[in-house]
Amino acid sequence: MTQNFGSANKPNLLSGMQPSAGSLHLGNYLGALVNWTKMQDDFNAYYVIVDLHAITVPQDPKELRDNTRRTAAQYIAAGIDTDKSALFVQSHVPAHAQLAWVLNCITGFGEASRMTQFKDKSQKTGADTASVGLFTYPILQAADILLYQPKAVPVGEDQRQHIELTRDLASRFNTRFGQTFEVPEAHILKETAKIYDLQYPQAKMSKSAADPKGLVNLMDEDSIIVKKFKSAVTDTEAQIRFDRDAKPGVSNLLGIFSLLTGESVSVLEDRFAGQGYGALKTELADAAVSVIAPIRARAHELLADQAELDRLLAIGADRANALAETTLAKVYERLGFIAATK
Ligand code: TRP
Repeated sequence: MTQNFGSANKPNLLSGMQPSAGSLHLGNYLGALVNWTKMQDDFNAYYVIVDLHAITVPQDPKELRDNTRRTAAQYIAAGIDTDKSALFVQSHVPAHAQLAWVLNCITGFGEASRMTQFKDKSQKTGADTASVGLFTYPILQAADILLYQPKAVPVGEDQRQHIELTRDLASRFNTRFGQTFEVPEAHILKETAKIYDLQYPQAKMSKSAADPKGLVNLMDEDSIIVKKFKSAVTDTEAQIRFDRDAKPGVSNLLGIFSLLTGESVSVLEDRFAGQGYGALKTELADAAVSVIAPIRARAHELLADQAELDRLLAIGADRANALAETTLAKVYERLGFIAATK
């Protein structure tokens, strides 16, 4: 098989995803994953499943193990091509933790304290019981990125502050110790904001949905997907048109429909003119099932052969380690660490 990873004339790209659920949801898929699969041809893409980040909040070990493999299987099933890209698990590449330590030492305490994610996430338990790992989460993320010298980091809007910190740390290191890191650009994926909860269409679709009916998962059975769309919240006007403020539920359905089929919202408005919400929901559910069912089937196949899935992840880890070790060696040398003799 020809492997087209590692072409010298393509720029690098890196992105990461948490292995924090047994299933990705439709928002992850339409917002991020579809874009990641498209970018594989134009970049040497590194996609990392961030298990080190996952343990910044308590995890059950068995669930973490399952969720890591399930996340990998769904990414491959949805089109991440392990010949073209490096798909790997963060803990398989020790340089992530090693570079994170170095970056911890050039990050100001005040600077880290301004990261809004820690404030949000630690609110549940209170900052006193939140882990120090959660506090330094963005610095580990900066290490993930800078090891691979990427030009682009495709992420949702919620990650913008972390990419800004990454850029600041890269420039700071380069200024103090000499040119070492590419200063990466955030490539903000606008669609991530466009997919809302089916029950609470003012809120983004999220795995922490208040009601499971609001969340469509890639691993849901067909009948469940259909049921969720049929019980989606709409309004009493009974007119199919896009108006985010006045009609958030119907607008969300139109937006999802458009992303699934590639038809524009205005084409859909014309097509459904004069029809009831039931017709829209039925067709949308069909469209969703025809996209999701093959992905789910392929993911189950991959999960049924764990040795093969782990082998694919090992190939990704080899590719990642090759570049990560080179970058880390440069960093250590610049810092004044003496090389260990072999
Ligand atoms: N923080 C990201 C999220 O929650 C996940 C992540 C970890 C990431 N490391 C990364 C994203 C590096 C992009 C690049 O979605």
